[in-house]
Amino acid sequence: MNFEIRSVLARRILDCRGYPTVQVDVWVGDTLGRADVPAGRSTGSNEAVELRDGGPRYRGADIQRVIATIEETIAPHVIGLDVTDQLGLDRFLCELDGTPNKAALGANATVGVSLAAARCAAKLTGLPLHRYLRADSHVLPVPLVNLINGGRLTSNDLDFQEFICMPVGASSFSEALRMASECHMALREIVIARYGKLAANTGDEGGFATPIVDPREALAILHEGVEAAGYAADMVYGLDCAATQLWDPDKHTYRVNGRDYTTEQLIDLYSELVRDFNVQSIEDPLAEEDWDGWAALTAELGSRGVQIIGDDLFVTNPQRLQRGIEAGAANALLWKVNQIGTLSEAIAVAEMAFRAGYGVCVSERSGETEDPIIADLVVALNAGQIKTGSPVRGERTAKYNRLFQIEEWLGADAVYAGRQFKGRATGRGNVADSGSYASRDLTA
Ligand code: PGA
Ligand code: ZN
Repeated sequence: MNFEIRSVLARRILDCRGYPTVQVDVWVGDTLGRADVPAGRSTGSNEAVELRDGGPRYRGADIQRVIATIEETIAPHVIGLDVTDQLGLDRFLCELDGTPNKAALGANATVGVSLAAARCAAKLTGLPLHRYLRADSHVLPVPLVNLINGGRLTSNDLDFQEFICMPVGASSFSEALRMASECHMALREIVIARYGKLAANTGDEGGFATPIVDPREALAILHEGVEAAGYAADMVYGLDCAATQLWDPDKHTYRVNGRDYTTEQLIDLYSELVRDFNVQSIEDPLAEEDWDGWAALTAELGSRGVQIIGDDLFVTNPQRLQRGIEAGAANALLWKVNQIGTLSEAIAVAEMAFRAGYGVCVSERSGETEDPIIADLVVALNAGQIKTGSPVRGERTAKYNRLFQIEEWLGADAVYAGRQFKGRATGRGNVADSGSYASRDLTA
């Protein structure tokens, strides 16, 4: 069978915010693998570099140079490579780039080629992508459903970025989504009744952009929606505070709800929110360089069973994750392939997190496309949790809808992570053995 890459093409498409982004086609014979590249807005400063053209087109955001890089620089080098050798391809992309952070080629070039190649290889082997990547893929994730948006994802004055419900008590993934959707519908009615119809407009990830400023009020109304839908016993709550955006480097404080908080005061606030609202997951509670604060917060809340996720802190980067593991900062990794720039590197970081007893939450970017690839990737990792927005907006539902298909494909083999969402190393016996990859071991 022929596995040699025949051609690599790229084109401009639009993401859900109307910004241009890259779509890559990798061809082997007549088999096409295609992948889109998402983009962040509240990005970590240590992410792999996303290149944009500058200049007048799309107000500086065009990606014509990235397309040229893919077709003129990358393609001639990767044509002829074995598309099933993902590790070799990704290593080659790193070498061709030659920088520590994809600054030469652009992570928005490398990630597109890397993911499109994986898709093409899976198609050639006749397997769904999740099963091509891992022989024992079978865990359906708990969705971290973002029902109220704040921060840079919307135009209200709510400082924390995401208020999330997690249907951990559901019996299956599809039941979890049904519960979350019903909560979304119930919450919409409550939001309109209390704040008026404009308050039910939505932010970038589909959560309500309600004009709330106090995080307590947001958690309280979220819980009201959940209660009205009848799922209070099956739901726990999560936050993404994206606190790097709240940090004042001059004052060394965080700005929340019109007040300045020291790191210690903010930890106290989180501690109260955990106590009062059954918050069991907090992402980026502190700024990306507040390492001591992260360690103190993890010691305090991690010991109470709260998941502490590093997004801007770790940026899916092995050096930063290693530092966090050594410092006791966070106990879970937010996993975004485009933060590091190739699939193999991202998988290696996830495995590193699992080995250290950290959970892994696979995540969308706020600027997504209709490409549902993270649905396959979360099942390929058996990671047990996915963050892909609210159950509305096509670029979000694309991921949920792909997970419905995967659940159907797995049939009786599907296991819903449920209350064991915190990761392989925290007692989910049914996935304790990480298994081997069907094609190549990408973690080698
Ligand atoms: P981003 O935000 O994709 O804009 O970086 C999402 C998040 O912070 O999780
Ligand atoms: Zn985040």
